[in-house]
Amino acid sequence: MIWAEFPEIRRELERVKAVILEEVTRPGGTLSRGLRDLVTRDAKLLRPAFTIIAARIQTGGAAVSDRIIRIAAAIELLHVASLIHDDIVDESASRRGGASLHVEYGSRAAVLMGDYLFSRCFSLVADHAQPENATLLSAAVSHIISSEIAETNGGQETGFSVRRYMHRIVGKTAVLFALSFHFGASEAARDEGGDPRTVEILRRIGYNIGVGFQIIDDLLDLFGSSRRTGKPGATDLRQGVLTLPVILAANSAQRSRLIRVLQKIGGRAAQPRLLRFWQERAIERVRSEVAEAGGRAGAMAAAEIYTRRAEREIRRLPRGRDQVILRELTERLLSRAS
Ligand code: FPP
Ligand code: MG
Repeated sequence: MIWAEFPEIRRELERVKAVILEEVTRPGGTLSRGLRDLVTRDAKLLRPAFTIIAARIQTGGAAVSDRIIRIAAAIELLHVASLIHDDIVDESASRRGGASLHVEYGSRAAVLMGDYLFSRCFSLVADHAQPENATLLSAAVSHIISSEIAETNGGQETGFSVRRYMHRIVGKTAVLFALSFHFGASEAARDEGGDPRTVEILRRIGYNIGVGFQIIDDLLDLFGSSRRTGKPGATDLRQGVLTLPVILAANSAQRSRLIRVLQKIGGRAAQPRLLRFWQERAIERVRSEVAEAGGRAGAMAAAEIYTRRAEREIRRLPRGRDQVILRELTERLLSRAS
């Protein structure tokens, strides 16, 4: 478990878990049963941990206030709400080592379970955060949903655009990572008068970790062993979602070769929406074509750039135990592809 070496963070996360449990228990009935099942499964709780670490950096490692613990819990509730809805959209059968809620309770109930968490997130932030952070939360949710819409429309995408890919992954991952850090840093600054420049540094750290993390996730989806990722391989390709290695390969000098493979396998013009019909053998061909055309190395280099940026910003933080925790955590999160 990632927090075993950081007991001070693990302790605070136990408090976050207690708030989450309290929130999902309150309505009772099937709603509570389903949500309790999901939130008690094993999870890294990265986002609330980011909020806690950012707050501790601002206060020099002081115990985190109850207010900030509730805000950290709100961030996780938003994340879990988006996962419940995402599994419906993706028709994905499993989540966090168990059945997805829509598989167990039907889509109608699962949509409402996600909505409930979503509303509890807003309520906690409205009650405990500064008003400008509630405004930032609304903007972040709009961004998350617009990038999800872009991904859902990805099946109709005909071009191979790095810019569109970046917009998607920023929305999917980096926005919430950045917000998690920003919430912890800015709310702690209100209590303890931390440095506003540190708030901005921490927000950028969240953004850079988020982009790097998602590029690596996408690399692992295509090239990682399914035993390690716990997911069936190449789910993005199967769903017609183009990720950075494929996009870079398709834009490379050897583009025509990759397109030819796509045509051969699809039996028609190389339109990404045909990807979902491909067979195992076809996916293996795409893997080797993408690697040969430099898409794999290119995506790894891109992840490296964001990792270095995050590390540079971490070096600018006040020295101390929490700076070390953040440095080690970043290293672990962003070295998964090697
Ligand atoms: C996971 O991507 C997707 C997200 C983290 C965002 C999903 C957002 C929505 C469904 C919009 C609704 C949002 C709210 C706030 C209610 P993935 O499918 O690549 O990851 P996975 O492999 O974990 O499923
Ligand atoms: Mg999904």
